[in-house]
This record gives sequence, C-alpha cells and structure tokens, in this order.
Amino acid sequence: MKKLIVIAAVIFFFLGASAQKYDQLAKTPPMGWNSWNKYGCNVSETLIMGMADAMVSSGMKDAGYEYVVIDDCWQISRDENEEIVADKDRFPHGIKYLADYIHSKGLKFGIYSCAGTLTCAGRPAGRGHEYQDALSYARWGVDYLKYDWCNTGTQNAKSSYTIMRDALYAAKRPIVFSLCEWGSNKPWEWAGEIGHLWRTTGDISDSWNSMISILSQQKDLAKFAGPGHWNDPDMLEVGNGGMTTEEYKTHFSLWCMLAAPLLAGNDLQNMSPETKSILTNKEIIALDQDILGKQAELWRNNGDYQIWMKMLAKDEKAVCLLNSSDEKKTVLVDFGLIAQARTEGAEDSKPLKLENFTVRDLWEHKDLVLKESSTYIDILPHSVKVYRFVKK
Ligand code: GLA
Repeated sequence: MKKLIVIAAVIFFFLGASAQKYDQLAKTPPMGWNSWNKYGCNVSETLIMGMADAMVSSGMKDAGYEYVVIDDCWQISRDENEEIVADKDRFPHGIKYLADYIHSKGLKFGIYSCAGTLTCAGRPAGRGHEYQDALSYARWGVDYLKYDWCNTGTQNAKSSYTIMRDALYAAKRPIVFSLCEWGSNKPWEWAGEIGHLWRTTGDISDSWNSMISILSQQKDLAKFAGPGHWNDPDMLEVGNGGMTTEEYKTHFSLWCMLAAPLLAGNDLQNMSPETKSILTNKEIIALDQDILGKQAELWRNNGDYQIWMKMLAKDEKAVCLLNSSDEKKTVLVDFGLIAQARTEGAEDSKPLKLENFTVRDLWEHKDLVLKESSTYIDILPHSVKVYRFVKK
C-alpha cells in the first residue's frame, strides 16, 4: 500500500511538473498583426511576408508591434501520419520557411488552430492531435498560437484548453497561448493559469456599434487581467474602412486603456497617414504597455459620457473621457478630483495631488495649461480625450 502511494505521488509530481504554461511570456499585452479581420480565408505566403515587410517599413515594429499571425485557412488536410498540412498552393515553401522569414525581420510568428474537430472555417483542427500539432509548431518556430472554439460539441472548455497548454509545454518552445473561446464559459475565471490571453466576447466587426458593444462587456473584468494573463476584447479594426478616423482613435484609445492585446487587422502595406498615426501613437501605446498591467475601470458612467481610469506604474494614471453620443459634448472636468481618485483594484495606491503632476493630452501631444483644477473640455461625437497624469 505504502509503495503504491509513493508511486502515485511520483506520477503526480511529474504530471504536475509538466502542467503549466510558459509563464515568462506576455508580461505586457502582446502586440502584432493578424490576417483575419481584413483577409479572412484569403491568406498566402506572399501576403504574410508582405505584411512582415510592411510592419518594419511602416514604423509599426518600432512602435512595438511584434507578432505576425496567420489566422484560419492556412491548413488544408492531414497526411498519412496525421501531421497537419499547409495549403501548398498558398504556402508553397511551407510554414517553417515563413516563420524563418518573419524571424529574419526581427519579428515573431503566430499561427491559428482550434480546440474542436474542425476550425471555424471548416479546416482540420486540433482535437485529438494536440501533442502532435504542438511538436509541429515548435519545429516550425511558432511563437504564438491562437486557439479557437468551433466544432467542440460537448467538450469542456477548461480541460480542452488545458490539454493544449500541456502539449505546448511538452513541446519545449515558449509559445504565447491565446484562447479564443469568446467568453462563453467565463475564461477570465479559469484561464489565467492556462493561457496568456483569452477572448471575452464574440467577434468584433468593423463598425462603431460592434466596437462600443464590446467595450460595454469589459467593464467588470479589470480584476482578472495582469502581467502574463490578459482579457482580449478582440483584434483591432483600425484602418479597415467601416469607422471614421475619430471612431478609430476612440477604438484604439479604449483598447489601450483596457490593456488589450493590440493585434492590428488592416492592410499594413497601404495605410493612410491617419491610420498610421493612430496605430503608432506611442503615447497611447505606452498606456497599453505599462508594466503595472492594470486594465482600466469604468470610473464614472453617465451613459453616453463615461470616464475610464487606468492606474499606471510609478503612481501615474490615465483617464479616457468618452463621448459615445452623436452630439459634441462640453463637460466640466475636475482634474484635482480625478488625480485623487483610485480605481477599485488600486485602493492601496496613494491618492495623487494634482499640483505634483502635469496633465498631458495624448492625442494633441501637449500638456494642459490648467488655471484651476476644474475646466471645460469639448469632446467631439464618438470621440475621446485621453490624459496622462505625468509626475513633475
Ligand atoms: C472565429 C474567431 C475569429 C477568427 C475566425 C476564423 O470566429 O473568433 O477571430 O479566428 O473564427 O475562422
């Protein structure tokens, strides 16, 4: 009996030892580009290599974007050994060649699969092949895996994603693990030890209503996010044409306030100057990438006028004033009060005194000249003002 217990303990120790995610990854929200929002199934080696080139030449890489991720439809079948096979017409040199190319640009490479029997676009998926696929990904040089939730029948979400996490760990290559389960089973409650990010909602589409509806579903989730484990309100639509420039600024500002993963989803090879200046606004990106890793909370909710607040490292903070109405708003803002305020997750941080800070407008790239603590601010329709309290 004693012997049995010892054997069981040893087995448990080894299984337990392998049951973890790579925990030194995604200390700040991952940044990159993903093919789905603009190209859907129309992916190819030429497209992905072109995007990697453009990520460098456009200044996106300098702004912090790193992962180039092929979403669904790169895979076409399994071979006689059940190995996953890439579409040869679209990826004639195979996936490793592509990964090597992306790495040669100083970037990282991501790929997509799904926990079910087929991907959302009906391609072969991971169910029953997790360990084999993880080895293929490791061999090819994959750095990031987005793992979807279609065709999963009665599968349990937590155990399905745990199998893939363990398979990735066993394959011995650090791979960021992105759960794409759409928030169906409240992954924020259990995915922190499984993956580095998890989708919180259904798919975004390139419209103001879709973006704002996703925002409204994030407001109670701040406490679940932090370094190495992020809520993912889905990829960016900035530059895809369905929103105005002002709306894209709002979308980008809010995602950065939320410490969201920043996966651009537009054509990086043909960006308008406006799109480029939104996606590469380093002062806004710095909020997203702040090492404290706090997600913004909804501090004041007046319906179509909201104030989101994000605590930052070194006792700094950011606020985003959102006017989601169709009219311009003029609002009285008390910066002294905002300086003192603390979000729910940060009660232990010091209340700040306005006199110790400069309030910087992160879209105007200017410091506010405040004669008094309260001042009137104009906010355009569907627009934001984003301020950072910078220590003097
Ligand atoms: C799901 C995901 C999307 C995308 C598609 C691909 O809808 O949520 O982000 O990956 O599948 O088929």
